[in-house]
Amino acid sequence: IEVDPFDLIVFGATGDLAHRKLLPALYHRDCDGQLPDEARIIACARRDLEPGKYREWAEESVREHVGDLDETVFKRFLERIDYLAVDAGADKGWQDLAGVLAERPDVVRAFYLAVSPDFFGPICERIGAHDLVTDTTRVVIEKPIGKDGASAKKLNDTVGEVFREDQIFRIDHYLGKETVQNLMALRFANALFEPLWNSAHIDHVQITVAESLGVEGRAGYYDTAGALRDMVQNHLLQLLCLVAMEPPESMDADSVRDEKLKVLKALMPLDPETVEKRTVRGQYRAGASAGGAVSGYLEELGRTDSVTETFVAIKSEIANWRWSGVPFYLRTGKRLAARVSEIVVQFRPIPHSIFDGEAGSINANRLVIRLQPNEGVRMQIMIKDPGPGGMRLREVPLDMSFAEAFKVRNPDAYERLIMDVIRGNQTLFMRRDEVDAAWAWVDPILECWAQAKDAPKGYTSGTWGPSASIALIERDGRTWFEDMI
Ligand code: BG6
Repeated sequence: IEVDPFDLIVFGATGDLAHRKLLPALYHRDCDGQLPDEARIIACARRDLEPGKYREWAEESVREHVGDLDETVFKRFLERIDYLAVDAGADKGWQDLAGVLAERPDVVRAFYLAVSPDFFGPICERIGAHDLVTDTTRVVIEKPIGKDGASAKKLNDTVGEVFREDQIFRIDHYLGKETVQNLMALRFANALFEPLWNSAHIDHVQITVAESLGVEGRAGYYDTAGALRDMVQNHLLQLLCLVAMEPPESMDADSVRDEKLKVLKALMPLDPETVEKRTVRGQYRAGASAGGAVSGYLEELGRTDSVTETFVAIKSEIANWRWSGVPFYLRTGKRLAARVSEIVVQFRPIPHSIFDGEAGSINANRLVIRLQPNEGVRMQIMIKDPGPGGMRLREVPLDMSFAEAFKVRNPDAYERLIMDVIRGNQTLFMRRDEVDAAWAWVDPILECWAQAKDAPKGYTSGTWGPSASIALIERDGRTWFEDMI
């Protein structure tokens, strides 16, 4: 696919995101022949550095994060990188940046703000003040977009003073994951599922995003956020939207985002009483992970008074014609038993069995969309056990593991998303009203938790979270599907 020449200006170029994700992603796309000859990467950070020194760092991190390098491409890739010392919060370096950009006023210009959200405002203001926004200029911002609806509004207002909505790319990297895009292919490129995709045939949906890692070096940020803000407000709700939305008219950005927005608006609000019954908060304690002993969240944080949740389970419902009465159980947490993200669509049982008791029990069909690891889609169906022995039934998976089916490298979410920014395609980015609607559902939960007397329930690292999470779903006569993992 042709890509127009571009200048990608990365603020926070010495930071973790740039080194771990952005540079490796760009390198991969260079290998795939997607970076035009005229593509420039302008790395910006506060520190005074020779561009050569920055390129050495870039080289190190790409080597660290990418397996087999194509040395010819890599050399060409490094030559695309320039470095400028620019202060996000002061005037230093802005004239230089303006000078470099003025060399090529007609190319696509993308500002990637890989910095703390506190700098979004100051950077945008200076981009505006130096008149750096052309018609083909875009800005990319990362979550967290606010810590509640009010702060998100403020932040979006600030960015919106300098950029039009069609120039603002709010990244939710889950939307760039291959299997997440596959969810749309599965639903809308097959005639098979859509007629069954409603409350008449689906019993419930489970969305699990489980991590085995703890908060690592991010306890400072994480303690001000917690799992609801960090994962549910964005990633899990976006997944829920893609499962639940009506077929959009096309893949056009606004068609898709209009449908997602309708789902967010139809989420049944939770009030203090329902929050109590339908949500579970947990915080990890010491335990074992990947075979080794690990400390609890409070020890890692170095404080004993934090009530920040590292685990959430929620029973949500969508109050619309298609989904009324179908629970969407969401759960996510750190230091759980495995790193696994899955969407499970549980169909209703058959209405009547023609098989006698000896055939064994008949499990309802289950569609499992595995985001990571081992991306793939699996349909659990009943078949006859082969061979003699009469009609004995058995559940087997119709399994499509992408790695086996395609034998290609699974691209990282950022690869797709960065190129979409350059191409100006917003389909996989969150529109402002989506962010607002997600906060409108999350805010009351946060308020109820803030007023609750109890602390999050402790769970041992390396387990599936507090037992209350199991009780949440078992109360409804259902169970979390861990057997699939
Ligand atoms: C980020 C969260 O958005 O997503 C992190 O801030 C989390 O806390 C991460 O670890 C998970 O992403 P992935 O792609 O590793 O599943």
